[in-house]
Amino acid sequence: MQTAASIRVEPAGPLRGELRPPPDKSISHRAAIVAAMAEGEVLVRGYLDAADTRSTLAAVAALGAEVAELGQSDAPGGIDLRIAGVGLRGPAARAPSSIAIDVGNAGTLLRILPGWLAGQDGGAWTLDGDESIRRRPVDRIVTPLALMGADVSCRDGRLPPLDVRGSRLEGIEYRLPVASAQVKSCLLVAGLLAGGETSVVEPGPSRDHTERMLAAAGVEVVLEDAGTSLAIRGRLPARRITVRPPERIDPGDLLVPADLSSAAFWIVAGLLVRGSRVRLDGVGINPTRVGLLGILSRMGALVEVVETDARGGEPRATITASHGPLEATRVGGGEVPLAIDELPLVALVGCFADGETVVSGAEELRHKESDRITAVVDGLGALGGEIEATDDGFAVRGTGGIRGGTLDAAGDHRLAMLGAIAGLASREGVEIRGFDAAAVSYPGFERDLRTLTGGSSR
Ligand code: S3P
Repeated sequence: MQTAASIRVEPAGPLRGELRPPPDKSISHRAAIVAAMAEGEVLVRGYLDAADTRSTLAAVAALGAEVAELGQSDAPGGIDLRIAGVGLRGPAARAPSSIAIDVGNAGTLLRILPGWLAGQDGGAWTLDGDESIRRRPVDRIVTPLALMGADVSCRDGRLPPLDVRGSRLEGIEYRLPVASAQVKSCLLVAGLLAGGETSVVEPGPSRDHTERMLAAAGVEVVLEDAGTSLAIRGRLPARRITVRPPERIDPGDLLVPADLSSAAFWIVAGLLVRGSRVRLDGVGINPTRVGLLGILSRMGALVEVVETDARGGEPRATITASHGPLEATRVGGGEVPLAIDELPLVALVGCFADGETVVSGAEELRHKESDRITAVVDGLGALGGEIEATDDGFAVRGTGGIRGGTLDAAGDHRLAMLGAIAGLASREGVEIRGFDAAAVSYPGFERDLRTLTGGSSR
């Protein structure tokens, strides 16, 4: 399916039908990296076939992993892969001179891969990417990696390109200043190569796919309660995650569930478009990812979640969303990391809900593929939404709907798809400028849009 740089999405009649959203982006990145760290062959089923996760396949191939594409997977938008890894310490042996790694638009690759490279005594790599990547802070990994003894440096002490020269690492205990699964994962991966134990204390839970995958690969991963934390408003139980360096890892076969963050667009479309009922199958419902479902439930949304299985070590469900009245809510504290990528959609739902919806404690949104506070407020504001930015979030006054107009995706895949869902639920339709950004995580979005609408985009 070809995407256009600009598309127009007209107001839709009732959305009816079912689909399986594309494979999970976070889990796909990790699957490629973990498979590359293994010594034997790993079968990865349902790997996300999108721009971001293609960057990760190219990166692990540049490190010496052999990636064989076996064809389309049963899950739409996915491919099956056989990856022959280089072993935990393989990259240095295979790449003694400096190698450039293009991470494209993928922040997760930019933050996790250096954890592996930092411990490769003798190798040198430079990670760089597109215009958006060049604005994404990497000091959050440089600081703790340096504490482990890593030789890492970046532009202005904060931004890519990021230079990594492999060295011997020592385990540390590091308290994350903000809950970030990318930083946590970077340090846990570095810990696989360090002398002694490496512990990461997170102020509140963030997505735990790395911990699950490493534990399933035979790594000793210890989870402990680390008291309470005031770093995130609301005194959350802090968690300490400790890894001990293994001789080798053996991930077995990996299976990627459908991405809740992609399903979220259709869930919200089902809630907002009058008369709709939409069913999404095979969706990952890892408890550290489902913050949106709790938020929507407080808003009175008609969302049914039926867990089906936990194949691949990640729980999956069928999710059904139906149109109905919605009430405003407040989102903040420990809920933010659990719904971080879905907060733009919460803003859209807020436009339709009764009362004022407020998101706070989400300053991290300013450091995503775009400044998502500014982009969401400008984007929905241009469509007639009554929304205001705050330093760490936004406040939306529900007016029962949205007019429509033109939204600029700001080079951000989630903004592009937000605009499309706004269009379906709008009174006058929405033109999305720069819609092609959606291919970063969801190249089949327009096809799925047509499946549910019978063809409202052109
Ligand atoms: C991700 C973690 C989150 C999320 C991003 C993917 C991951 O970022 O926003 O889209 O796969 O680990 P942070 O770790 O920066 O919060």
